[in-house]
Formats: sequence, structure tokens, C-alpha cells
Amino acid sequence: MPDPSETVRRANAADAEVLARLRFEFRAGIADAVEDEASFLARCSGWMRERLESASPWIAWVASDAGGAVFGAVWVQLVEKIPNPVGEPERHAYLSNLFVRPSQRGRGHGSRLLSVALDECDRRGADAVFLWPTPESRSLYARHGFTAAGGRMERRSWHAL
Ligand SMILES: CC(C)(COP(=O)(O)OP(=O)(O)OC[C@H]1O[C@@H](n2cnc3c(N)ncnc32)[C@H](O)[C@@H]1OP(=O)(O)O)[C@@H](O)C(=O)NCCC(=O)NCCS
Repeated sequence: MPDPSETVRRANAADAEVLARLRFEFRAGIADAVEDEASFLARCSGWMRERLESASPWIAWVASDAGGAVFGAVWVQLVEKIPNPVGEPERHAYLSNLFVRPSQRGRGHGSRLLSVALDECDRRGADAVFLWPTPESRSLYARHGFTAAGGRMERRSWHAL
């Protein structure tokens, strides 16, 4: 179980650098990076800072230890739907980049990040929450109500996994 002093909180622009590092650890951990680490970190932290410091469709949360060190994160992008006269919710949510550093895994942090993000999706009236899971994370998402069913189709131009 997580220590009560370990918290999940909303990310802000000051977290951009550590969030970019977590992003690099996640993606370069499952495939060979084709971009130099330093330039990726500069590019990604700039992208993240911009989305976290001003109004944007992106929201992120971080998991941190008692000393405030961030070791996990999750991101959600709210996606507008076209106005619909039949009362359906008018936005979807794209959940991405759920990551917990290996040393901190298996103690419920991933689950807590996911729960906080999904609560916010519910609060904002999201219709479908969609994501592309890594193979090992499918059981975690299934426990939080995700299914592989549905009428969605997708066209991929590149397959990393
Ligand atoms: C997915 C992830 C965030 C879970 O973090 P966590 O703190 O260990 O999460 P919890 O302790 O709440 O849940 C553990 C569950 O994660 C899943 N899991 C375990 N190892 C995993 C791995 N290497 N990668 C992905 N998911 C994993 C399993 O469902 C596990 O449950 P189980 O032990 O009952 O099988 C973490 O494993 C991770 O960062 N993995 C690499 C990145 C990734 O695959 N993210 C998903 C993006 S779509």
C-alpha cells in the first residue's frame, strides 16, 4: 500500500521538466529513441510547460513521495465532440502516458493516478475515455472498467508495440 505521505496531485508548469523525463523513461524504455535525450527533454518539457501553464485541453497529475519527488504521472486530453441534439455528453477523454517509475510499482500508485484521472473525466462529463494500452497494463485498465469492445475503428500509420 502507498504511504499516506505519498500523494497524487494536479501537475503544474513547474513539473514540466520531471514530467518530460518520465516521458523519456517510459517511451525510450520500450523502443529505441531516435532523438537525442537532451533535445527530446528540451522539446518535451517546453511542450508540457505550455500546456500546463495556460488554458489547454490537457490535464496531468503526478504521484510524489513524502519529500515531494515526482515518480509517476498520467495525462488526459479532453476532446470535443460535435454538438448533438439528443443529449449525449459532448466530449470524450483521451488518457495517455500513465507511468510509474519501476522502483515504485506494484503498490497501487498507478491505480490511484488512474482513479483520480477518471474521476475528473466523470466530473467533466466525458462520454468515452479511450487509450492505447501497453500489453502489460491491460489488466489494470480492465479493473477500472475499460473494455476492448465497442464500435471504434482506428487506422494506424506506425506500429511501435
Ligand atoms: C502501468 C503502471 C503505471 C502501473 O503502475 P503501478 O504503480 O505498478 O500500478 P498498481 O500497483 O496500481 O497496479 C499494478 C498493475 O499494473 C499492471 N502492470 C504490472 N506490471 C506492468 C508493466 N510492466 N507495465 C504495465 N502495466 C503493468 C498490472 O495490471 C498490475 O496488476 P497485477 O499486479 O494485479 O497484475 C506501471 O506498471 C508502468 O509505469 N508501466 C510502464 C508504462 C505503461 O505501460 N503504462 C501504461 C500506458 S498505456
